[in-house]
Amino acid sequence: MHILQSVTAGVALIGTALAAPSAAAAKYCDAAGVCFSESVAGGVTFRAAIPNVSAAPFDIILQIVAPKATGWAGIAWGGAMANNPLTLGWANGNSTVVSSRWATGHVLPGAYAGATYTTLSGSSVNATHWTLTTLCTGCSQWTASGAAKKLDPSAAATVAYGLATTPPTEPSNNASRIAVHTGKGKFTLDLAAAKTEKFDSYVQTLKGKA
Ligand SMILES: *[C@@H]1O[C@H](CO)[C@@H](O)[C@H](O)[C@H]1NC(C)=O
Ligand SMILES: *[C@@H]1O[C@H](CO)[C@@H](O)[C@H](O)[C@H]1NC(C)=O
Ligand SMILES: *[C@@H]1O[C@H](CO)[C@@H](O)[C@H](O)[C@H]1NC(C)=O
Ligand SMILES: *[C@@H]1O[C@H](CO)[C@@H](O)[C@H](O)[C@H]1NC(C)=O
Repeated sequence: MHILQSVTAGVALIGTALAAPSAAAAKYCDAAGVCFSESVAGGVTFRAAIPNVSAAPFDIILQIVAPKATGWAGIAWGGAMANNPLTLGWANGNSTVVSSRWATGHVLPGAYAGATYTTLSGSSVNATHWTLTTLCTGCSQWTASGAAKKLDPSAAATVAYGLATTPPTEPSNNASRIAVHTGKGKFTLDLAAAKTEKFDSYVQTLKGKA
């Protein structure tokens, strides 16, 4: 698995050096004026907003926008599949589901109780995409092999995505069995650009909207 990861990272670096970067950082503001730092990876858009803090732990507003053909997609906050919080999302009818996971290796990730989520408005499915908008408490700091791991809110975080074309077996169940990923890779999510003094009002706005 480590060898596979190194190879993947190497390929990604070569791709970045020779061609267009696989993920471009940008800023995105929705119709309600909630602004996010944005990266696109594997054809999926990942957006984050965080409070203006200098250290973890901090809450994260995460938005995942995936083409409808994406069965599930998720982010690994530590940049690898194993031993870090995984935030997975998928479509369930006209809405979306968030699932808190943790993988101990290259195996089916189990439920992770160290992160809790509040689904926010802007979680929907239309003709072309599904969108998950969620507030995560516990995604910025975790413990792996006895060591504390923290995201630096003032830097671009190296995270990873995973996705599969096959939807979860039981889409209404956040603990559903999921198919192994058909796509994965590392990308950067600029947390410094995700900082906002308006974080609390963003959360209120996103809790209130239909
Ligand atoms: C999903 O939305 C469509 C269009 O708004 C509606 O016709 C359909 O009944 C909805 N399905 C469910 C399961 O709510
Ligand atoms: C599923 O949702 C319940 C209720 O919000 C929560 O307690 C549980 O941790 C979630 N499980 C997963 C795997 O996300
Ligand atoms: C569906 O929602 C996504 C995300 O908001 C948006 O980019 C896309 O244009 C929408 N598609 C349609 C057909 O409205
Ligand atoms: C965060 O707070 C610092 C210190 O008060 C300030 O200099 C900075 O402009 C703030 N950043 C944002 C994005 O508001």
